[in-house]
Amino acid sequence: MDIKNLIEEAKKEIEKAGDLNEMDMVFRKYLGKTGAIRNQFLEMKNLTSEERGIAGQELNSAKNEIETAINEKMSLLRSVELNKKESEVVDVTLPGKKFSAGHLHPLTLNRRRMEEIFSLMGFEVAEGPEIEDEWHNFDALNILPQHPARDALSLGKTFYLTLGGLLRTHTSPVQIRFMESHQPPFRIIIPGRVYRAESTDSSHEVQFHQIEGLMVGKDVSVANFKAIFAKFLQEFFGKEMKIRLRPSYFPFTEPSFEVDMSCAICGGKGCPACKQSGWVEFMGAGMVHPNVLKNGGLDPNDWQGFAFGMSLDRLTMMKHKINNIRLFQGNDLRFLKQF
Ligand code: PHE
Repeated sequence: MDIKNLIEEAKKEIEKAGDLNEMDMVFRKYLGKTGAIRNQFLEMKNLTSEERGIAGQELNSAKNEIETAINEKMSLLRSVELNKKESEVVDVTLPGKKFSAGHLHPLTLNRRRMEEIFSLMGFEVAEGPEIEDEWHNFDALNILPQHPARDALSLGKTFYLTLGGLLRTHTSPVQIRFMESHQPPFRIIIPGRVYRAESTDSSHEVQFHQIEGLMVGKDVSVANFKAIFAKFLQEFFGKEMKIRLRPSYFPFTEPSFEVDMSCAICGGKGCPACKQSGWVEFMGAGMVHPNVLKNGGLDPNDWQGFAFGMSLDRLTMMKHKINNIRLFQGNDLRFLKQF
């Protein structure tokens, strides 16, 4: 048989073959043990040794040519088959790809929850500047220049700014700012950052967060305060919390009290977090002092109200049984991922 014809015929069949099975048949027909090329070799025995040399070379190169063509077509068919499998088979039981995204900080989550609870009780959210003047942070709140709170004691130490002003030590100045521009009756809460120059420990930070409350009306009373607060705590902690008021002193409220709640960590039995007392102090409160109303532009003969200031950090710690306030600013993902 003419070798050229053989090659051409083989190439035609290779081209026609549509899958790996057909290719297998083509391979066997030409290159197999009983294939055409092998038969040609066998027939060489009838040739003279000179003719045999030439024919042998021809046959070998024909064999190579066919082999290359077959290999090329096989690998093409293989990749087509693979793609087909991939696009046809969808394993619906495979877990989805996970994207890791950040989430809100626990303090943000809890602030929002508090805002939600208070807004259901008719409170609006108000805000004020973190850089304050002495008037709003101290004087207007009835904190006299010689008052120890101005420097140390209950308000901690104040960061004064060289350019003038100070970092607010509490959210109470926003009480004044709100009264300056609003007519009662109103009820507001004021979330915000506050700053105190203190040495830090597991329950003190230089910067923390307060939520201030102010409710002013014709006959707002301590009883209103207690009822609203009991409701707030019940919603926030998801169960009834015992609270107690202890007489205290703040220049901007009269009467004033410290508010304790039963320790959420030990349930009131006594533990290191509550110094074995079963109670934790979490905020100051009282009836707004007449001088403060006056400084806010309101007539104390017409209006009265209660105010409170609590630590968002402290309440968040109680709720989630966190024993170190510094975790909030630590940026440790092992902590943050738990919320
Ligand atoms: N401003 C007080 C503090 O930072 C808390 C407080 C607010 C007390 C309102 C009474 C009324 O400690």
